[in-house]
Amino acid sequence: MGHKAKFRVWRGEGGEGQLEDYTVEVNEGEVVLDVIHRLQATQAPDLAVRWNCKAGKCGSCSMEINGRPRLACMTRMSTFDPNETITVTPLRTFPVIKDLVTDVSFNYEKALQIPSFTPPSNVKPGEFRMQQVDVERSQEFRKCIECFLCQNVCHVIRDHEENKPAFAGPRFLMRIAELDMHPYDTLDRKNAAQEEFGLGYCNITKCCTEVCPEGIKITDNALIPLKERVVDRKYDPLVWLGSKIFKR
Ligand code: SF4
Ligand code: F3S
Ligand code: FES
Repeated sequence: MGHKAKFRVWRGEGGEGQLEDYTVEVNEGEVVLDVIHRLQATQAPDLAVRWNCKAGKCGSCSMEINGRPRLACMTRMSTFDPNETITVTPLRTFPVIKDLVTDVSFNYEKALQIPSFTPPSNVKPGEFRMQQVDVERSQEFRKCIECFLCQNVCHVIRDHEENKPAFAGPRFLMRIAELDMHPYDTLDRKNAAQEEFGLGYCNITKCCTEVCPEGIKITDNALIPLKERVVDRKYDPLVWLGSKIFKR
């Protein structure tokens, strides 16, 4: 059975905007993105929204729904009370381009700053031999769909524009952790994690982990282990050397 839902949507561009109220039809089984599309089709043809897959896999439809960072295509309308007003706003941590679409280039800039996987020159592709535990660790981190919800929610940059140059955010600290724990990566990434990518700013609040639609344990499996490795290194450089030698 369908019903009419009350939607309050942020509309604006060029640094200015306001919340606007709409009443939109909702059918059984729909998600928030369906309703936004109906809004576009029937009442607000110029409403800007970014999406691609409608299957929780492209990471495009990130927005804030009742103040919570979420994927609009994975948020079922049935999770709301039919009488409640659903407020939809753009990601708060990144600049708005128009309406619900934000400029997430901060994330691409951080990604580019991380040196890529650097295996030993004498091991050719096809010759890598890894323990299953190392394979599984990388596989968990590589489920990331780059929705940037974790980046958006982290308090270090959410309300602190001034921290952005010094902090790469959970998604990219996770990438550094993945590479640093990779048995075939030859670069030492610990100093950079701390000095260039701001690992020390993270105080393990775990908000990033809570919003990850892929259920990646960002804090427990990436950030805390990376912090432990940086601390070990600080107290005893031989710990680092040993960890690299004995893994081979
Ligand atoms: Fe999104 Fe999770 Fe990847 Fe962060 S780690 S960008 S929340 S999929
Ligand atoms: Fe931010 Fe996640 Fe650390 S939310 S503070 S990166 S645990
Ligand atoms: Fe692709 Fe939502 S549209 S994740």
